[in-house]
Amino acid sequence: MALDKGCFKIVSTGHFTPEGVLSNHDLEKIVDTTDEWITSRTGIKERRIVNGKNTSDLATIAAMNAIEKANYDKDKIDLIIVATFTAELRSPSMACRVQAKLGLDKPGILAFDINAACTGFIYGLNIAEKMMYSGSYKSALVIGAEVISKFTDYKDRNTCVLFGDGAGAMIIEKDESKEVIFNVQTKSDNDLILYVDDYVNMNGPKVYQFASRVIKSSVNGVLEYGNIDRSQIKKIIPHQANIRIIQSASKALKMPMESFYVNIHKYGNTSAASIPIALDEMLEEETMEAGDKVILVGFGAGLTSGACLLTF
Ligand code: COA
Repeated sequence: MALDKGCFKIVSTGHFTPEGVLSNHDLEKIVDTTDEWITSRTGIKERRIVNGKNTSDLATIAAMNAIEKANYDKDKIDLIIVATFTAELRSPSMACRVQAKLGLDKPGILAFDINAACTGFIYGLNIAEKMMYSGSYKSALVIGAEVISKFTDYKDRNTCVLFGDGAGAMIIEKDESKEVIFNVQTKSDNDLILYVDDYVNMNGPKVYQFASRVIKSSVNGVLEYGNIDRSQIKKIIPHQANIRIIQSASKALKMPMESFYVNIHKYGNTSAASIPIALDEMLEEETMEAGDKVILVGFGAGLTSGACLLTF
């Protein structure tokens, strides 16, 4: 486990989900499945699918949403990290496209992508925090953005019911008074139980077992490292992959389901975008007091996993 402490303040968050809705009933017409099966096995009722937009468009709209909410001077941003596995170009990176689309022309900006699948947003925050702590960067824009519909085989009922498109963003600045704790890691996966070539492929039950175990160990890792009692945690924002994975984590951690923010019914699994979308929606519904603590926790292909304890 790579456990470490750092600090940053959350300046703003934002998200964007495309207008196009693909419901379970729509999928019933495409593959041999039912709304009842999908709902009971996954908790998903519908997902959003792009029409005419690309990953960098979604990322830019989510970033603009964060910028506008805080009325933030975007020219302060000097670091842009996009977590994605669905970039529309091999090069340049989505972060470079976001920089261009936001019109950020100031010298000294660094922009790059990372691919850590569904844990990508947490890895992105970890890297941004380290780069700001080194003193070189002052304002980071971290985004998780995916157009998974372009990598989904709509003839494969094992995968096509699970995924959707979307993007979430966070602007952070260095602030010594706001502690963050990271617990990030990668477990080698010789059998490739989850991978993407032309399409997403997976061994569902094996991924399920890994995910159920790793949420507990990731969350316990940050709590123990920070000497923090779970009663001090206002909310856990888990990667939205399957409601049953979240329910089993709730049981294993002995934390009620009300402690977990869930929006999987609306969007399905949006990979690196799932945690920042959920965080932004949670913040639209709940007011955070200074000092409130929230844990983000994710897992994905790699096998990557990680948790991040945020202080508001
Ligand atoms: N509709 C109807 N039946 C389906 C189906 C669908 N969309 N998808 C699979 N099935 C069938 C299977 O073919 C299987 O049939 P069989 O018993 O005749 O062979 C049956 O349902 C049970 O399949 P199983 O894989 O055991 O179901 P499950 O309870 O494990 O649920 C997942 C399947 C994919 C929902 C579950 O394993 C899961 O969520 N895994 C994690 C996936 C994930 O989160 N991936 C991304 C991680 S970032």
